[in-house]
Amino acid sequence: MNKLIQIVLLLGIFGSFLAADSSIKAMKVLGNVSDIGPTSKAWLSSGYQDVTLYPQTTIKINDKDTNELNVKAKKVRVKAITDGKNISFLIKWKDETKSIQDNYNTHGDGFVMQFPVDATDVTKLPYVGMGNKGRAVIVHFKKAIGLIYEIDGEVYTQVGENNQNIFADDLQKYIDEAVKKGEGDYQKVFISEGFHFMTQIKDGSTVGKMHMVYKNGYWKGTLSCPLKSDYLDLTHGAFPVSFALWDGVKKNRDGLKLLSSWIGVKVVGKSGGGKLINSLEVKPKGDEVNGEKIAFENCAACHKYGEVNIAPDFMAPNLSNIGGYSTKEYLMESIVNPNAVVVPDYNTNAHKNFFWYDIDDKGVRTSTMPSYNWLDKKSRDDLVAFLKSLKVQTE
Ligand code: HEC
Repeated sequence: MNKLIQIVLLLGIFGSFLAADSSIKAMKVLGNVSDIGPTSKAWLSSGYQDVTLYPQTTIKINDKDTNELNVKAKKVRVKAITDGKNISFLIKWKDETKSIQDNYNTHGDGFVMQFPVDATDVTKLPYVGMGNKGRAVIVHFKKAIGLIYEIDGEVYTQVGENNQNIFADDLQKYIDEAVKKGEGDYQKVFISEGFHFMTQIKDGSTVGKMHMVYKNGYWKGTLSCPLKSDYLDLTHGAFPVSFALWDGVKKNRDGLKLLSSWIGVKVVGKSGGGKLINSLEVKPKGDEVNGEKIAFENCAACHKYGEVNIAPDFMAPNLSNIGGYSTKEYLMESIVNPNAVVVPDYNTNAHKNFFWYDIDDKGVRTSTMPSYNWLDKKSRDDLVAFLKSLKVQTE
């Protein structure tokens, strides 16, 4: 056989074992990257890696138009560089509309980078949607807001007697008040054990410098942070990161966003972390067609996914993009031990008839999903292969 064809075939076979989520290489650079913005020349020494973000379809919100705006995945480009003490990420994404949050009814474009506090065991990474009980994440969040809007991270909505904003009649007073207390530039860092358990870190112990710049239909956002801080240690050869985007014009907020899976970051020139990277890159083995059959028989009564729309609304998380933002390890754990990570209720008003979990008097949550640990190994593997394939197309 022609050598070239052989190589192409080999690459094809090899390629099919790799998921789309190849790892990001953090290149070592000279100089200091503790606070660099998108226009820094330091970025020239590193190449982009594609990362795909998927609509978090866990739950639809009570807003039909909004749901319909959020149907496609988005490819973004990411670079990383390190000076040995700090690491910086650059994320570039297309957005035809620059949205800045400048009053109560608008939403700003924004981005998040999250890191697991503990990533030593790839089978026990935090829930990618802002962590979960016992598996914390550090969340760096930046969004585009006008100079005068947020006060200490909270939207300044003091409500008067008639449910009117008390400043609605007196905008200048509101602006003055906001300027006095606000900071204009919205950038926060949280330690989070889930959507309902986010604590802003204000003591300066976990610093990160974020910037975002809009040009020619693209946003570029950066995060620079120390490799080691009180809550986070990124000094290993590799660690996971996850990205999220909110699109203001699509009214994205809270759980309504685009989300990547955990993506490996390999620090070039530093040993270790190979197991983590490998595990995050390699596709699950299994027969997707058989997995689909098993899912239809066992899961479709509670979960909607793809074209399968049998379950009542809000009965359980919608799995239509679960393969896009979940690792294979998380999917396996969800099947055999639903209590390990209990997905939060993003909107209890919407699904008040269906409790996703019970809470005991100590606050411990038990999932209402039964365990499928009785399935044989092959069936479990096939199911995971099928779940990993569940994701929408990229725009
Ligand atoms: C009785 C209803 C029910 C059945 C049947 C059920 N689930 Fe679930 N599932 C839930 C609920 C409720 C949750 C959210 C609470 C939690 O995290 O356990 C959930 C969560 C999940 C999650 C995590 C979703 C996310 O957004 O992270 C996955 C994955 C999952 N289920 C897969 C399955 C698979 C695969 C099957 C079939 C083998 C199945 N489920 C059967 C109710 C069910």
